[in-house]
Amino acid sequence: MKTLAVLGSTGSIGTNTLDVVRRNRHLYQVYSLAAGQNVAVLAEQILEFRPHFVAVAAEASLTPLTDALAAAGLPRAEWPELAWGNAARLTAVRAAEVDTVVSAIVGVPGLEATYEAICLGKRVGLANKEVLVSGGAVVMEAVRRHGTELLPIDSEHNGAHQCLRAGNREQVTKLILTASGGPFRNTPKEQLAFVTPEQALNHPTWKMGNRITIDSATLMNKGFEVIEACWLFDFAPSQVDVVVHPQSSVHAMIEYSDGSVIAQVCATDMRMPIQYALTWPDRAEAPVPKIDWSRPRTMEFFPPDFDKFPLLKLAYQCQEAGGSATCTLNAADEIAVEWFLQGRIGFTAIYDIVQETLERLAPTTPRTIGDILETDRESRALARKLAAARSSSPVTA
Ligand SMILES: NC(=O)c1ccc[n+]([C@@H]2O[C@H](COP(=O)([O-])OP(=O)(O)OC[C@H]3O[C@@H](n4cnc5c(N)ncnc54)[C@H](OP(=O)(O)O)[C@@H]3O)[C@@H](O)[C@H]2O)c1
Repeated sequence: MKTLAVLGSTGSIGTNTLDVVRRNRHLYQVYSLAAGQNVAVLAEQILEFRPHFVAVAAEASLTPLTDALAAAGLPRAEWPELAWGNAARLTAVRAAEVDTVVSAIVGVPGLEATYEAICLGKRVGLANKEVLVSGGAVVMEAVRRHGTELLPIDSEHNGAHQCLRAGNREQVTKLILTASGGPFRNTPKEQLAFVTPEQALNHPTWKMGNRITIDSATLMNKGFEVIEACWLFDFAPSQVDVVVHPQSSVHAMIEYSDGSVIAQVCATDMRMPIQYALTWPDRAEAPVPKIDWSRPRTMEFFPPDFDKFPLLKLAYQCQEAGGSATCTLNAADEIAVEWFLQGRIGFTAIYDIVQETLERLAPTTPRTIGDILETDRESRALARKLAAARSSSPVTA
């Protein structure tokens, strides 16, 4: 029986994680949950999974949460301990009972608790890619120092993890990550400046949170995945290729020195990689549709268009540069995506803001989580200024 802390329990990965738990009660129990502000979903999760400890992002969410628990008729004696903020997220992973942490908070708010879990040697199922994009060097040093099992949940990295089991790491020549190409794969470059948030949120194959969906439309998400893969599997950026595969059935491929390529293929359902991160090195039946190979199917592969999606190229350059560049890349992108979703800047301004933030901020070499958070703060502040300057010119077709 594994005892879980689920960080980001109310999100897309978090709810899928709890569905895996729901279907395997004999294998998993939930000790703690951490979420942002979706109190309604969190209250339902408390009623169903009966965690001992629950963290919300802000103090203001505590009263609505206790109101929801009272309204649901849960006797006070059966309420979990409730707390808020970063300290509460740390408590959620520290409990001695917790042996496995699913890290699925979006963005840097998940960094410290994930790092803490790593330092405590708990198994970490990592969905939150910003942890490695922002702080790869510091985080991976802790993974090595504490011998932590860090299992990727991101489907491409999870696929790569599976393919790497087919041979010796020294005989690997290349990792190939697939990308669906996003909703604008066939949209002419000149029209991208005028696409709306609604169009960008319409992802062709995956149902995910808003930030990662926009990042998929710009291919920034694929750039983050290149960075994440470099850290997870110790690759140079030049050893990681991206290929557009609109069917999203092949998640990743590993090329070995003899030219043999091992691919990981499965349905597009995040419960498979989530479950793999929990059961590894074993496998178990997953609630995921099996591919029917008796029916004709087409799998296409195209090179990515770096000119149309320049954030992908920028990700490679930032990983090559090292230091604080990828932390700034993530922070500036998060701000730009936020402003785009609010309709305050156009789609192509996301790249402009990120690129200019990188250009204007002096690079540093973060050595601690505190250094990373400082770079993150500075990058956001500058990106916000740049976004504000751009939002004064309205986006019109
Ligand atoms: N969805 C996917 O298929 C997928 C695939 C690969 C990787 N990922 C990665 O997994 C992470 C989560 O993605 P998602 O799609 O599940 O995102 P999501 O649906 O937006 O969920 C994000 C979760 O983080 C919580 N959260 C946000 N801010 C927080 C804060 N300050 N403190 C505590 N919790 C906070 C949210 O809580 P509230 O909703 O309660 O505010 C929610 O539970 C991201 O890093 C993403 O890149 C996702």
